[in-house]
Amino acid sequence: MGSDVGLESSKRFLATWLIGGLVAGLSVVAITTAWPELNIFRKKKKKPVRVYMDGCFDMMHYGHCNALRQARALGDQLIVGVVSDAEITANKGPPVTPLHERMLMVSAVKWVDEVIPDAPYAITEEFMRKLFDEYNIDYIIHGDDPCILPDGTDAYALAKKAGRYKQIKRTEGVSSTDIVGRMLLCVRERTSCDSPSHASLQRQFSHGHKQKFDDVGSGSGTRVSHFLPTSRRIVQFSNGQAAGPNARIVYIDGAFDLFHAGHVEILRLARGLGDFLLVGIHTDQTVTANRGVHRPIMNLHERSLSVLACRYVDEVIIGAPWEISKDMITTFNISLVVHGTVAEDDDFEKDDRDPYDVPKSMGIFKVLESPLDITTSTIIKRIVSNHEAYQKRNERKGESERRYYESKSYISGD
Ligand SMILES: *[C@@H]1O[C@H](CO)[C@@H](O)[C@H](O)[C@H]1NC(C)=O
Repeated sequence: MGSDVGLESSKRFLATWLIGGLVAGLSVVAITTAWPELNIFRKKKKKPVRVYMDGCFDMMHYGHCNALRQARALGDQLIVGVVSDAEITANKGPPVTPLHERMLMVSAVKWVDEVIPDAPYAITEEFMRKLFDEYNIDYIIHGDDPCILPDGTDAYALAKKAGRYKQIKRTEGVSSTDIVGRMLLCVRERTSCDSPSHASLQRQFSHGHKQKFDDVGSGSGTRVSHFLPTSRRIVQFSNGQAAGPNARIVYIDGAFDLFHAGHVEILRLARGLGDFLLVGIHTDQTVTANRGVHRPIMNLHERSLSVLACRYVDEVIIGAPWEISKDMITTFNISLVVHGTVAEDDDFEKDDRDPYDVPKSMGIFKVLESPLDITTSTIIKRIVSNHEAYQKRNERKGESERRYYESKSYISGD
């Protein structure tokens, strides 16, 4: 009996819902017929908003990545122009990373949809026309730092006049100038070569009033100038997605210091071996212990952001252990542990324990042939071998950076 009553009431309940649904459905038809522009139910074939941003992207860092993330948020598709080697050389001295490496780096950023090589250093009227007409660009995006042409005019005046310019907030905390400064400082410390040029370089790279040494805790001597990491920034860079059911999880670990094209390529290969790439980023202490007091150049949070921005990466462990334990493999359900063939020369008080002992004994360890022969040391060597040119370039850049920070005021946005 009780069940009959239950059945009866559920029938009534169902009927009410059916009628309710019918009424609601009809209203939708009525509304959308009367106001077609309100039709949220029919899939609209809306043209995607294409935004363009350009840059040199030399020694790409998470500041560049954050700019690209912000630019992408202003449209549906982000097209990035990468300035040619010749143009960079003519305007600010030779780039540290050649165009093909810079293209690789920019293409690997997860917010980038298309890349245009050989963009002009300063946007010309002709190139702007090409962007609008050939590449169907809707808006040109630039940071809030002014871009002045040699003749003193605003490089984006034309786009602004056409109402097709949008601005993003410059990322606090890091600039290539600052990173080069850290590298030269680390070389100076290591070789204790007190050549006057190195000493003067060191002075130029410190912003004078703001440079601090982060010797609290890490002891690595990683320089922190303006970077103040927040939890929100980490969230913005994250994919926020766990591995799906039955996913094959690949693990790769490392310092990922001065994130470069070699890193990108090994991550691409590693991702191809599974469905989900988990990247372990060693702590500053671990890197220092294995590579010497002058490393890392970039601190743990900076290195984490660079890796997170890479499209081949699904998740990072911010501060991964040096040795991979059985527990870790179980916790993350790691199917395969990989390591690149091109690794740093770890000649610093390395203990005899192989960090990959456990995955090796489990038969889930694989060595990946690194596609590119680039290491963090390669990048540092490039800088140092050419330091005269960089010195000149950075004197000029350092001055404009200083002016920027002196005149800087609060700008909303993220
Ligand atoms: C763990 O990974 C394997 C693939 O190696 C997969 O088949 C299995 O479903 C995963 N386990 C869980 C609980 O997702």
